[in-house]
Amino acid sequence: MSGDDRQTTEVILGEERVFRPLPETVVEANVSPIEYEEAMRKGQEDFVSFWEEAAKELEWYKPWDKVLDESDAPFYKWFVGAQCNIVHNALDRHVKSFRKNKVAIIWQGEPLKDIKKLTYYELYRRVNKFANVLNSLGVKKGDRVAIYLPNIPEIAIAMLACAKIGAVHTVVYAGFSAAALRERVNDAKAKIIVTSDGLYRNGKIINLKNVVDEAMLECSSVENVIVVKRTGEEIDMSDGRYLWFHELMDAASDECETEVMDAEDMLFILYTSGTTGKPKGVVHVHGGYMVGIHRTLKWVFDLKETDIYWCAADPGWITGHSYIVYGPLIAGATTLMYEGHPLYPKANRMWKIVEDFGVTILYTAPTTIRMLMRYGSAIPKKHNLSSLRLLGTVGEPINPEAWMWYYQNIGQERCPIMDTWWQTETGAFMITPLPVSLLKPGSATRPFPGIHADVVDQKGTPVSEGKGGFLVIKKPWPSMLRTLYRDPERYKQVYWEKIPGNVYCSGDVARKDEDGYFWIQSRADDVINIAGHRIGTAEVESAIVSYKAVAEAACIGVPDPIKGEVAKVFVILKEGHEPSEELDKAIRQHVRKELGPIVIIKSIEFVDSLPKTRSGKIMRRVLKAKEMGVDPGDLTTLAD
Ligand code: WTA
Repeated sequence: MSGDDRQTTEVILGEERVFRPLPETVVEANVSPIEYEEAMRKGQEDFVSFWEEAAKELEWYKPWDKVLDESDAPFYKWFVGAQCNIVHNALDRHVKSFRKNKVAIIWQGEPLKDIKKLTYYELYRRVNKFANVLNSLGVKKGDRVAIYLPNIPEIAIAMLACAKIGAVHTVVYAGFSAAALRERVNDAKAKIIVTSDGLYRNGKIINLKNVVDEAMLECSSVENVIVVKRTGEEIDMSDGRYLWFHELMDAASDECETEVMDAEDMLFILYTSGTTGKPKGVVHVHGGYMVGIHRTLKWVFDLKETDIYWCAADPGWITGHSYIVYGPLIAGATTLMYEGHPLYPKANRMWKIVEDFGVTILYTAPTTIRMLMRYGSAIPKKHNLSSLRLLGTVGEPINPEAWMWYYQNIGQERCPIMDTWWQTETGAFMITPLPVSLLKPGSATRPFPGIHADVVDQKGTPVSEGKGGFLVIKKPWPSMLRTLYRDPERYKQVYWEKIPGNVYCSGDVARKDEDGYFWIQSRADDVINIAGHRIGTAEVESAIVSYKAVAEAACIGVPDPIKGEVAKVFVILKEGHEPSEELDKAIRQHVRKELGPIVIIKSIEFVDSLPKTRSGKIMRRVLKAKEMGVDPGDLTTLAD
């Protein structure tokens, strides 16, 4: 197709640019435009049968008696009475098919020479072995296992092995600090931690085992720590509770029965930031979760047997759970994992990976795209990106400028961009295009078929076109969170009681345009989104206040051209301490130690007072308005 023909894919409608899919995209797509519209209609009229049909594409040990049980809402149950195991669908069934020798995981380590490919059969055997290891250490159905590993195949092996025997995994992103790890391990009362000696990041070796040691000072539930040898650095393994992964694996049998689970049995807990300092343990289950991620991945990323699919997230986040590990494996695809930094050793690394492995689908975050944009379009031009056919983004709103850069320079005006809006809580894509959709840069387009999304005001009344409001989901969906771990009350309060009408409140602010397209604007609560990572302002504040010289702190998110948002903090010092550069540095170091490097602080402002309500709650919106130079709105609740 010539450059001129490509121009015709862009239509200017009013103020907005609309991109049509190329004819070949439409012809090849799993779901045609007619099927898509039909599914949209069906999903609106009868979402229960829409999802039931989706469930029939997977294998179950025993079918359901009822698709959806709403009797104990908002504790919805899906596929009631059914028995299954997500691992049966992700592995067991494939090794009996032609996929047995298909590559399941391509792994690229940060050092260029570190490459591993695991076939479905090899992955199956390793998962069986590790499942036996866990069994031999006394892990039983329902027990929690914490996984604190970098982006290496063992993280997928550990997750799948837990699920296989009915244990519940809780993955803690390897960038989190000892304090954050400890808090999550203790909340989950995990019996085992699976970690590694370290990881490679931006050319450096980072020791993870030290972090685990520090966390372990106060993790009384943990009986054993299993350590994967990744970097080979000398580490102290003298503590009898610490065991080498490879030694345990060598001794384990490669046969293991897959546990028969009820569809509603817990699969994993994944902690996510809340508005209080305490993270929320989002609970997902075997049955509905696998149905949601399978249907969305097959339709949105249009997976085909020949695809090399690369989701450049980390398995430590929901994106990695759903769309690096479980989703692609259930679909029988080849999923690529990259361990390292996107700029290591040079700014061409991502494009080199695309070229080296013939990646066909690339799914990444706006923050990464903006970072790569800074290095210019000459770098991707030097690589053969012709294998790509679809692109995706997730984690925050993508600004149209970054969308256009991605579309033109990476997708070469050939690849549609799937801007997928969803959350840890939703488990799977909620608002997203399909490859055949008309795209508007910056909009996640329309709800996925079967998803009833809307924009409403505080009272639950839909707001008119173009007006901002709360993004809600009005009907349950199979991959929804079931509760917050050991805190069902908070589950009800946070998600179901904020807005009347028994609707799920996402915590995001959005608007709908005249075509019913959704434009996500920001978070409504006190959560900021730094490079796609959700960070509670309260978490940052509590970390800062735990520093000896600090009396009080307030944190707000401020826009950043690369990270989307970064933190700005206001600090009141304790008597006897004066603002200084050293103190500024020390506070930053302290936050890094408490919360890990994902919390990026733009600046610290030392102040004498903070705006508060009469009940003593810090009014962050006042600080934010001042910072942004806008009207702070209603100030009647301000104490002084
Ligand atoms: C934001 C990540 C705009 C949003 C899967 C949401 C997005 C939060 C998008 C969830 C998108 C995610 N456009 N905003 N395509 N995707 N978000 O739980 O604020 O880490 O509520 O899940 O990220 O973040 P989480």
